[in-house]
Amino acid sequence: MPNAIDVSHWRMGGITVPAVEDYLYNMLPPRDEVLAEMEAEAAQKKIPIVGPAVGRIFHQLTMMIQARNIFEMGSAIGYSTIWWARAVSDGGRVIYTDGDPKNAERARGYFQRAGVTNRITLKTGDALELLSEEKQHFDIIFNDVDKEDYPRVLRLAGPRLRKGGLFVTDNVLWSGRIANGKSTDHRTQAIQEFNRALYESPDFYTTILPVRDGVAVALKK
Ligand SMILES: C[S@@+](CC[C@H](N)C(=O)[O-])C[C@H]1O[C@@H](n2cnc3c(N)ncnc32)[C@H](O)[C@@H]1O
Repeated sequence: MPNAIDVSHWRMGGITVPAVEDYLYNMLPPRDEVLAEMEAEAAQKKIPIVGPAVGRIFHQLTMMIQARNIFEMGSAIGYSTIWWARAVSDGGRVIYTDGDPKNAERARGYFQRAGVTNRITLKTGDALELLSEEKQHFDIIFNDVDKEDYPRVLRLAGPRLRKGGLFVTDNVLWSGRIANGKSTDHRTQAIQEFNRALYESPDFYTTILPVRDGVAVALKK
């Protein structure tokens, strides 16, 4: 197994105090060789993956609603995709999407080694367009695309989720910058607008989990 990276790598700052973050990450069981290698690659190349604490949330959410069809928006090298794919029951499917074909090639190799190839469909292109083309209803839609697009993703995701399905979004606390009501940064403003709209939406029951960079979990009513 590749050397585990230091737990301090997962600290986001601005949300949970470092000692508590380290405590949470130190408690996690070690990952298998493939996930550990992906974590090391992400740390080295500064690829912003969700990491193992959030990965476990994904696995748990999938089991809780016995999800079988998952649409992932913004998959990069496929780290979060593997967490979803390992949690779906037999016959379950996860759609991987990313705008960069090189990421998809890298992910394909990892999926083979992780033994989840038959559960994953890879699609490259704009994740918002790819979701719009889908006719089916998903059990879970996971949103991790460019932050400026979050308000648009919210409008697209609702109609594509089944009742009782989950709309899950990463980075909704944005290293704590979200708390600055006077921010002039476009990405911060987009996430602020997104969070407000998600909580106010009559179609969802929403909670933000302050794990790592903040994960919004919204239940479709
Ligand atoms: C934060 S990374 C994804 C990390 C991944 N979810 C994980 O945790 O392992 C965001 C990825 O989304 C992709 N991306 C951003 N906006 C996109 C869009 N509109 N359509 C498709 N891919 C997009 C980027 O190429 C990048 O690889």
